[in-house]
Amino acid sequence: MGIAYTAKGNQIVPVTRRLVIRGRKVRDGRVRISGAKNSAVALLPATLLADGESVLQNVPDIADVAVQQDILRELGATVTRTNAGEVRVEASGALSHEVPYPLAKRLRGSVLLLGPLVARLGRARVPLPGGCAIGSRPLDLHLKGLRELGAEVEIEHGYICAQAKSLLGTEIYLDFPSVGATENVMMAATAARGVTVIYNAAKEPEVVDLANFINAMGGRVIGAGTDTIKIEGGHPLRAVEYSIIPDRIEAGTYLLAGLAGGGSVTVENVIPTHLEALLAKLEEAGVELADCGDAITARLVGRPKPLQVKTLPYPGFPTDLQPQLTAFLLLSEGTSVISERIFEDRFGHVDELKRLGGKLETDGRTAVIKGVERLTGSHVTATDLRMGAALIVAGIAAEGETVIDGVEHIQRGYERLTEKLTDLGVVADWID
Ligand code: UD1
Repeated sequence: MGIAYTAKGNQIVPVTRRLVIRGRKVRDGRVRISGAKNSAVALLPATLLADGESVLQNVPDIADVAVQQDILRELGATVTRTNAGEVRVEASGALSHEVPYPLAKRLRGSVLLLGPLVARLGRARVPLPGGCAIGSRPLDLHLKGLRELGAEVEIEHGYICAQAKSLLGTEIYLDFPSVGATENVMMAATAARGVTVIYNAAKEPEVVDLANFINAMGGRVIGAGTDTIKIEGGHPLRAVEYSIIPDRIEAGTYLLAGLAGGGSVTVENVIPTHLEALLAKLEEAGVELADCGDAITARLVGRPKPLQVKTLPYPGFPTDLQPQLTAFLLLSEGTSVISERIFEDRFGHVDELKRLGGKLETDGRTAVIKGVERLTGSHVTATDLRMGAALIVAGIAAEGETVIDGVEHIQRGYERLTEKLTDLGVVADWID
């Protein structure tokens, strides 16, 4: 997706603002981390599993969450964002089973309505979703899971149509520990008779967050966070108040961005164990780390040592931090190798990073980064969310000014961007 343009007088100008970053930090930074995007886009659909008003706390104010909220409204729920970070969802009345295409095409997480709608209404019509362009992202495991629970599922004219008179607990083996498929099956299985067991389930913290939310509602999900999850279906679920976990990807992004700019950086309101894969790699790169309860401080003197990194399902290194880590390693003292094992086409950032003076090449699913002594600011464009985050990291590492277009992609997942960059000690601003 490129930038949108509009006519202004006789001129054609970009609709969205650009982000300008002056490279290198001006002081040590301290950033407070928001609630997890990937939890929020799963827990919002899960509120439909209960009658009454659910209250979610620590919900980030980002575009992906706004789209998920709009989808719930279109389905018939009343959704209000009250004070900072609190979203109330009242879903007692009649609901539609049809997710509207104009919203679904903007958010891959819209597919997470499938499980809750089938559980609650016995049917769902959900468009094949949009989202980041990082390779083909099949949904076969979502569909297989629902079918094994007893739903009839067809793809018709770009829509997933699912129907089930009743759902029956069963054993489901996922060929890959897909986050979304694990979540959809978990939500649908709350309405199934008997016990459902998911083997090779995703272990991501956001999957555990969803299980904890369902359990707080009165459900019974056992084993989330391991590769075998059991769901006892049929427990009546009631609306509750629940606080979402901190965003480990946002935390990792600001750690890498802060380190790229020199000096030290502290991220607050994090769960350090969720960041272990990143922290281990940072230590290998020569970063000094200190964690104190829910805060992590990182400091790097000089350039990072080169790394060999492979992205893997949790607790492996997260693919959602791969572009940012690649940007951080542009200044490393030697050659780093990054192997992307989750998505087939997640190196869109590589060519943009070259504009800042980065020396890196890809070969299939591997990127080889030859560290350079300095980067210099330039004009770059983000075409997906984490690529945008990588451009911010590189812009902070570079000398001079970097202008980033396509910021709307970044705003899908990062709230209060310029405020947080300022907290990080970076000079950043918007321009038209
Ligand atoms: C979630 C996260 C996303 C993250 C990704 C991997 C949300 C809203 N998004 O996405 O930020 O990058 O996990 O950590 O939580 N696959 C199949 N068949 C399926 C489903 C997935 O083959 O039915 C494959 C995908 O093509 C991909 C891999 O499994 O190669 C991982 O996908 P998955 O874990 O499902 O990612 P998402 O849930 O879409």
